[in-house]
Formats: sequence, C-alpha cells, structure tokens
Amino acid sequence: MQSSANISQPKLPRLEIDPFSESFLTDPFRYHPQMRDVGPIFWLDSIGAYGVARHEEVTQVLKNHETFVSSRGVGLADFAKEKPFRPPSLLLEADPPLHDRTRNLMNRIVAMPVLKALENDWRGKAKTLVAELIEKDTFDAVTDLAEEFPMRVFPDAVGLMDEGRDHLLTYASIVFNAFGPKNEIFHSGMADADAAISWVTEACKRENLKPDGWGEAVFQSADRGDCTHAEAERLVRSLLSAGVDTTVNGISNLMYGFTQFPDEFGKMDTSQSSTRRAFNEGLRWRSTVQTFFRTAAHETSLAGVTIPEGSKVLTFLAAANRDERRWDNPEAFSVTRNASGHVGFGHGIHVCLGQMVARMEADALLSALREKITRITSAGPPVIRLNNTLCSIASLPVKLEKVG
Ligand code: HEM
Repeated sequence: MQSSANISQPKLPRLEIDPFSESFLTDPFRYHPQMRDVGPIFWLDSIGAYGVARHEEVTQVLKNHETFVSSRGVGLADFAKEKPFRPPSLLLEADPPLHDRTRNLMNRIVAMPVLKALENDWRGKAKTLVAELIEKDTFDAVTDLAEEFPMRVFPDAVGLMDEGRDHLLTYASIVFNAFGPKNEIFHSGMADADAAISWVTEACKRENLKPDGWGEAVFQSADRGDCTHAEAERLVRSLLSAGVDTTVNGISNLMYGFTQFPDEFGKMDTSQSSTRRAFNEGLRWRSTVQTFFRTAAHETSLAGVTIPEGSKVLTFLAAANRDERRWDNPEAFSVTRNASGHVGFGHGIHVCLGQMVARMEADALLSALREKITRITSAGPPVIRLNNTLCSIASLPVKLEKVG
C-alpha cells in the first residue's frame, strides 16, 4: 500500500489506508503494524493528515501541547476554519491558559476524597450486579454488564435527573463519531441525535441537577468565581460526553480480552493492585479511545519531517499501545503485565480527567466478579459497533465458571 515518497519531503511515507473506513474500524489492529513499520511519521492521503503510530512519536505529540494544540479541535475538523457541531469543550478542546483554569477546577470535582466517599456504595452495587448475572447461564457482557454497571453508578454520582438517562450512550457515540469525517458511520449515528443533544443540554442545567452530585459541585465553583455559570454548564457536559461510553467500552474490551485469553481471568485476585493491573492491561491491549488529532499551531518538525502550520496530526493511541518498540509480546493480553506508560488515557496535560473514576468502577466490578468467578468464556461471536474514535463492541455473549 505504500507508494512513492513525497517529493518535497523525502522522509515522509504515504499510506493509502483510510483510518475511518469500515474495514479499518472493524479491525484497526490489522493495519497498525504497517503504520508503525513504515516510519515514525507518515502521510494519510485519505484524510489529508499526518499520522503517528509509534509510542515514541505519539507521546511526543501529546506532550508538546504548545505546538500540537487541542483548541483547533481534536478531530479532523479544524475549528480555525470550520464551526464545530457544538460549542467546543472547555477541557478537551482548550489550550492553556484557559485549560489550566478549567482543569484545576475539575480536578477538584473528581478528587480522590470525593471518589473514596462513593467507593463502598459502588462496591456494593457491583456485588449486586454480579449476584444477578451468575444466576444466568449465559449473558451479554456488553449490555448486561459493561453498560449496566456504569449506568448504575455514574449518573447518580453526577446527580443527573432520573428520566432519559439512556440518551447518555447515544450522545457519547455522536460526540466520538464527530471527531472523524462526516462519513456513513457519522451520519448513521446522528439518527437519534436531536433527542439526545437536547436531553444532555437540559441535564447540564443547574435546576435539573441533584443537590449532592458532581454537577452541582461545578456550579458551586462558579458561585465562588472559579468560572462563569455558562462555563459550569459546559464543564458538566464534559463529564457526560467523556464519562460513560469510554468506561462502558473499556469494560467491554476487557471482557473481550478475558474471552480471547481464557486463562488470564483466574490469574487476577480480588486485591486492588491486581484488578488495577488487569484494567490497565485491557486499555493497553485494546484501547477504547483509538485516536485523537492535534493541529500544528505553527510550522514545526517531527522525526525530521517539516509539518506546516495548520496541519492535522492523527495520533494512533491504540497502535502505540501495541508498539513492539515499547512492549514485549504486545499482542498478548496478560493481566500480570505492568502496562503503565500506556496511552489509553492519553498523555500530557489532556490526560484523562476521569481516569480515577473509571479505575474505581473497574476495581469494584472486577473484584466482585473475581470473588465468585474463576473463568469467563465466550458463548457466541462478538458484534463490533463501528465508531469513528471508539473501539466499541455492541454484543459479547459470555459464560461464567463459578468458584468452587
Ligand atoms: C476507560 C475509560 C476512559 C478512557 C479510555 C478515557 C480516555 C481518555 C483519553 C484518551 C483522553 C485524552 C484526550 C486528549 O488527549 O485529547 C481523555 C480525556 C478526558 N477524559 Fe477520559 N477516558 C475514560 C473515562 C473518563 C471518565 C469516567 C470521565 C469523567 C468522569 C472522563 C473525562 C475526561 C475528560 C473531561 C477529558 C478531557 C481532559 C482534558 O482535556 O484536560 N474520562 N480521556
């Protein structure tokens, strides 16, 4: 697939791969070796953007937030030229100094003491769900477990209104599709968009948030002058866009790992260090967030290649997480591996704000499962859900083997 080198930039290989095609998104891992091996940076004709797929260059781009900015959008659209489909995120699509202010504020909303206060409740809810599931012969690890658990804990933590919470999953899939081109996948995801977008808009308003959740806490920060009330609404929206589908698919992909490597589940124990390691490995092995773009704020050079101002650079997080230059035996899912250093939660100043939230959900669920289960095996073929950014599974039939 590699054609002749770019004449003006001799070091730049060109790839004909379309990273937003159905074939690529169905199995991106099949294409990653070629992307990593062709060179540290390449040009993607299909989208008119640079790409980086090795761990070294992906982390370099993400670390260098002054050159590779987020405020021009972390999708294919350049906000300097195109109006985004919604007002930009004050976190994900912002640069310092605005980002410093909003990030500091939001770090306090999901700080460790806040999370610790919820831990027992989440562990109890995980045990209840597992008790329900082990009664079944087989079940769907996506709909019955990976979607069910975050939906039982996350909307309550934010303090969302009870009615219409299912819109959260639709909304998140719209947001993550919108980082890619306006292809068929994007358009089919827009089918229920209006209802989901208006539900989320309403849900972020102060009058619709419950008094003891993270959402109201953001508005209390606004009362203290840390942000405006309009900004508070948009910051609550960030929790809703980024906090559900990511975790759902993080858990789904981990369950898929257990079915593909059936001896791994039993190597985990119920301790937090063990469940945390397993979750990290799941995010490395099959990264939920596959890609994010950055835009060059000025002309720069990366791996010897000159990148003009305004260029989009696509960072392949999932490919970096299986880079054999960084990991031993990267294709293997191994729950005892120390996967720290993976970029499944990003890297640099935009590294996932909610990673402790996601980790606490996973810890609760995995330890509840491990207490009762020795093995998770496949009970039917998985169904992939196409999304322009997320590695998503629609259905994963599984069977559990009980302890004793
Ligand atoms: C397994 C679950 C999750 C994964 C894989 C994930 C992944 C990511 C990644 C890769 C980024 C970096 C974006 C970039 O560099 O442009 C990010 C940022 C972010 N995440 Fe997560 N995330 C997860 C869960 C959550 C949760 C539960 C929340 C909310 C409580 C959340 C909120 C955010 C926010 C607000 C940002 C933007 C941070 C910033 O720009 O400073 N995420 N996440």
